[in-house]
Amino acid sequence: TKKHGSDVMNGSSALVDNIGASQSRRVFWDQDVYQLELERIFSRCWLMIGHDSLVPKPGDFITTYMAEDRVILSRQPDGSLKAFINSCTHRGNQICHADSGSAKAFVCNYHGWVFGQDGSLVDVPMEERCYHSDLDKSKLGLAPIRVETYKGFIFGCHDPEAPSLEDYLGDFCWYLDTIWDGPDGGLELLGPPLKSTLACNWKVPAENFVGDGYHVGWTHAAALQMIGGELAGLSGNRADMPFDDLGLQFTMRHGHGFGLIDNAATAIHVKRDGYVKYLEETRGGIREKFGPERERLYVGHWNTSIFPNCSFLYGTNTFKIWHPRGPHEIEVWTYTMVPKNADTETKRSIQREAIRSFGTAGTLESDDGENMSSATYNNNGIITRKGWMNSSMGKDREGPHPVYPGIVGVSFIGETSYRGFYRFWQEMLDAPDWAAIRANDDTWDAMWTNRNFWPDRLSAKQAE
Ligand code: FES
Repeated sequence: TKKHGSDVMNGSSALVDNIGASQSRRVFWDQDVYQLELERIFSRCWLMIGHDSLVPKPGDFITTYMAEDRVILSRQPDGSLKAFINSCTHRGNQICHADSGSAKAFVCNYHGWVFGQDGSLVDVPMEERCYHSDLDKSKLGLAPIRVETYKGFIFGCHDPEAPSLEDYLGDFCWYLDTIWDGPDGGLELLGPPLKSTLACNWKVPAENFVGDGYHVGWTHAAALQMIGGELAGLSGNRADMPFDDLGLQFTMRHGHGFGLIDNAATAIHVKRDGYVKYLEETRGGIREKFGPERERLYVGHWNTSIFPNCSFLYGTNTFKIWHPRGPHEIEVWTYTMVPKNADTETKRSIQREAIRSFGTAGTLESDDGENMSSATYNNNGIITRKGWMNSSMGKDREGPHPVYPGIVGVSFIGETSYRGFYRFWQEMLDAPDWAAIRANDDTWDAMWTNRNFWPDRLSAKQAE
């Protein structure tokens, strides 16, 4: 019965059931699963590689990773962006070792080959004497990477057949616009990123951020009381806590998703007066620009993942990339996400609180780290690894919503977005190419046909 539903999804033995409600424990441990992820997910999906605010001027560059591949992102003289593999086409040396800077060229420190801002090979030491006009420099540029941006966020992709970034984000754009566009100019990232390593599989934090509302009141009970009192009644996962209508959960066709806690952006910012004031002052602009449904999102708190390995918390405003380092380790890169047009003091106060809660040694980050490592390393046991994990919470209390795009679950505490993440994860592993994934759109639509949870629920509420 552990078979995935679609014809294009049978390339590998299924590690996830057909609704994403259970996963083999091998997904957190096996080296062969990880290799398949590198080839079929990280080599074919759009991966977050930067933000306009990190490379504002021509010549500015940052170095980053796409999975385990080193990458240079470079702002061109005409203002456009290019990205290429950070590896010399002579003998493979890493070209650029700086985290960021401004450069007219990138010079390899092994034999001195010089690459331009656009990655082309522009100079070779003693070229005539060594190569006798035999070297075709035009074929030896750094390997280029497809780059597209959405509202200032920069993504890279290795697959020319992948959809545009906007199509890849799909319905999620409707949500992202609320904060990435904002009332007056959107967001920027404050770098450089904090970097740390964590002994866990990359999917443990990705799934936690995409939709684990369940752990918040338990894992973080003490920290929540310390930073701001009870948050939407979550602290301690009390038995009398309402489940339905405690925010919402969302999942999209390509595995992106988030959990919403209503009104929490202001509730958790009790020590962040500047930010609370900013949100209150600008929420009217959001209502005018996007309508009341998205004003609700604007003053809520989001636990979010963009498939596969980019996550953020809006409200707490931490922004994470989970760079995989083999199946059992990740490098965590942490930026702070701030409103571009807020004043400097407000930006700094947001950053201070984001680092206190979700920086490398942050109160809530430390709570999570131990669980993430344990959930990974427990699967080194061969018998343990034969088991399955469960993410069935709220599976009959979700569906298409008359207002909100994608699929919506009834509560922040649910596993709707878990299931969406893992359904797409299995689909990417199985599909031979993006054409097969596109052909599977109908399967996705069919899954939700006649799922009348929301129309029924909303009309019942109206009748009350
Ligand atoms: Fe880069 Fe030789 S490896 S110049």
